[in-house]
Amino acid sequence: MLEIKDVHKSFGKNEILKGVSLKIDKGDVVVILGPSGSGKTTLLRIINFLERADKGHAIFDDTDVNLKTASKKQIHRIRQKVAFIFQNYNLFHNKTALENVTEGLIIGRKVPKKEAVEMGKNALDKVGLSEKYHAYPSELSGGQQQRVGIARAVALNPDIILFDEPTSALDPEWVGEVLNVMKTIAKEGTTMLVVTHEMSFAKDVANKVIFMDGGVIVEEGTPKGIFTNPKEDRTRQFLRRVLPEDYMVYI
Ligand SMILES: Nc1ncnc2c1ncn2[C@@H]1O[C@H](COP(=O)(O)OP(=O)(O)OP(=O)(O)O)[C@@H](O)[C@H]1O
Ligand SMILES: [Mg+2]
Repeated sequence: MLEIKDVHKSFGKNEILKGVSLKIDKGDVVVILGPSGSGKTTLLRIINFLERADKGHAIFDDTDVNLKTASKKQIHRIRQKVAFIFQNYNLFHNKTALENVTEGLIIGRKVPKKEAVEMGKNALDKVGLSEKYHAYPSELSGGQQQRVGIARAVALNPDIILFDEPTSALDPEWVGEVLNVMKTIAKEGTTMLVVTHEMSFAKDVANKVIFMDGGVIVEEGTPKGIFTNPKEDRTRQFLRRVLPEDYMVYI
C-alpha cells in the first residue's frame, strides 16, 4: 500500500537519514523504535511532506511520488490519504472538540457542515468523547485532547495514520486510555505507522517492528522476533535499556 524507498535527509552537515526503505501493507500496524535522534520524527515528517527529503520516493498504491521534488498537487493528494498525529495534539485552542474534528472535513474536504458534524460526532464517539463535543481543549485532560487529535484523523478516513510518540507528552495516568483507543482503531483494520516508546503497544498490537538507529533501519521483524530474538547487537543493546531485565522471556 505504501512503500518508502531510499530516503536521505541532511540538516546542514548532519546526515540524519541515510537511505531508509520500508513497506507497509494495508491493515499493517508498524511500530518504529529507536533512540532519541535516530531520525524517526524526520522520517514521518518527510512521508507527510512537513519536511522535504534530499532524495527518496514514496509509492502509494502504484503512484510513485518523488519526496524531493513532488508538486503541490501531488502533496495535496498524499495528504488526503495520510493523517498525522502529533505528540503535542496540535488542537485549535479557540475551537471546541467537535469543531476541531470538523474543521478539516469542512475546509479541507468540502464536506457540507451538517454532514461534517455527524461524522465528527461519530469520530468523537469512537474515541470515547461523546460527552465532550462542545468542550474546549483547555477543559480537557491531556489524554482527552490527544483522543480529539485521533478523532480528527479518523474522521478524515485516511488510508494510513502516522503517529509520532502520541503518548509521550501525557501524564502517565492518561497514557493507557490513548493506547486503548489506538488499539481499537488498529483492530478495525486501520493502517498505522507508529513511533512510540510504549513497548506493550509494540508487543500487543503491532504486526511489524522496525528498529532505527543512526539514520538507518538496523533491523525489522515481528514483535516476537525483535523482542525475543534480536539479530543485531545495536537492537539488543537498545532493548536492554528500554525493556525489563527479563526481556528475553518478555513475550
Ligand atoms: N529542522 C531541523 N534542523 C536541524 N536539525 C534537525 C531538524 N530536525 C531534526 N534535526 C536533527 O535531526 C536528528 C534527528 O531528529 P528526529 O527528531 O528525527 O529524531 P527522533 O528519532 O525523532 O528523536 P526523538 O526520539 O528524540 O524524538 C536530531 O539530531 C535533530 O537534532
Ligand atoms: Mg521524535
